[in-house]
Amino acid sequence: MPLVNSKPILEEAMRGHFAVGAFNANNMEQVQAIVEAAQEERAPVILQVSQGAIRYAGMAFAAGLVKIAASIADIPVVLHLDHGTDFDQNVRCLRAGFTSLMYDGSKRPFEENVATTKRITEIAHIVGIPVEAELGQVLKIQDGVTPEDVLAAMTDPAQAAEFVRRTGCDSLAVACGSVHGMTQREATIDIERLKAIRAVTNIPLVLHGSSGVKHESVLEAIANGICKVNVATTLNEALLSGIRRAAAEFPEETDPRKILGVGREAVKEVVREKIRLFGSAGTIDSTGGFVSGKKQFRSVELGDIE
Ligand code: G3H
Ligand code: ZN
Repeated sequence: MPLVNSKPILEEAMRGHFAVGAFNANNMEQVQAIVEAAQEERAPVILQVSQGAIRYAGMAFAAGLVKIAASIADIPVVLHLDHGTDFDQNVRCLRAGFTSLMYDGSKRPFEENVATTKRITEIAHIVGIPVEAELGQVLKIQDGVTPEDVLAAMTDPAQAAEFVRRTGCDSLAVACGSVHGMTQREATIDIERLKAIRAVTNIPLVLHGSSGVKHESVLEAIANGICKVNVATTLNEALLSGIRRAAAEFPEETDPRKILGVGREAVKEVVREKIRLFGSAGTIDSTGGFVSGKKQFRSVELGDIE
C-alpha cells in the first residue's frame, strides 16, 4: 500500500481506545522488522524518522526505506517526522512525502512554540498533512535528570487547552512522567494530569519516552487518552543484543547478514510485544482497512507480555 496519513489512523485509535505504535528506525533491518511485525499482527504502524536517523542515514534514505517497506505491505504504514526541529525541516519533509509531521518547540518559550507550531500546521494542512506538537518537555535521561526536573517539565493542562486551540495541531505530545532513553521500565505516568489534559483537549495525545515506562502504566495511559506511543531505545537495545549474541556465538562468521539477521529478528519480537500491549493487534483486516463493526476495547493481559 502507499503510505497513509496519520490523522484518520489516530482518530480511529482514539475512538477504539487503543494506541498506534510509533517506532523509530535507523536502518533497513529495523524498518523491515517493524513492518513485518505489524503486518503479522494486523496492526497499523507509524515509522518515525528521528533527528539521529536523519544524521545517520540522511533524509532521503530514511524516508525511502519506509516508503519501500510500505509499498510491499498490506497494512497502513505512516511515515512520520520525529521531533522536527524547525519550520524549514518540516517543509523539507512535506516535499519528501512524509505523511505526518512533528514540530518540537518544547524547549522554546510558550509564545514561540505556539507561533512556530501554528505556522507549520497552516502550511501542512494546505496539503492535508497532520502535525504533532509538544508542550511541556519530555526530558532525556542522558542529560542527568532528577525527579524534580521531570515534575517541573510536565505539561500544564490549562496551557494545553490554549495551545491546541491557538495552533490547530492534530495531536499533542505530553510530558506526564516519561523520560527519553531509559533502559529500565521504571517510570510511571501521572494519570491525573493526563486525565486533566484529556478533559480540555479533543485530539489524540502522544506518549514519548515509552521505553522506560512500566507496562501497566502504559496501559493506564492508553485508557486515558494516549493514542500514539513512541518507542526507540528498546528497539535499539534489541538490535544490538541480537547482533552481540550472534557475533559471540559465531565469531568466525564472515557474512554480516547472518549476524544482522539475528538482530532484525530480535527487533521484530519487541515490536510484536509492543503492538499487543498497545491494543492495536488485530485492528486491520485483510483489505488493509480497520476491522469494521468490531469495537476495539483493550483486552490485553499483562501476564502474556514480557
Ligand atoms: O520520539 C521518540 C520516543 O519518544 C522514544 O523514546 O527512546 O525512550 O523509547 P524512547
Ligand atoms: Zn520523543
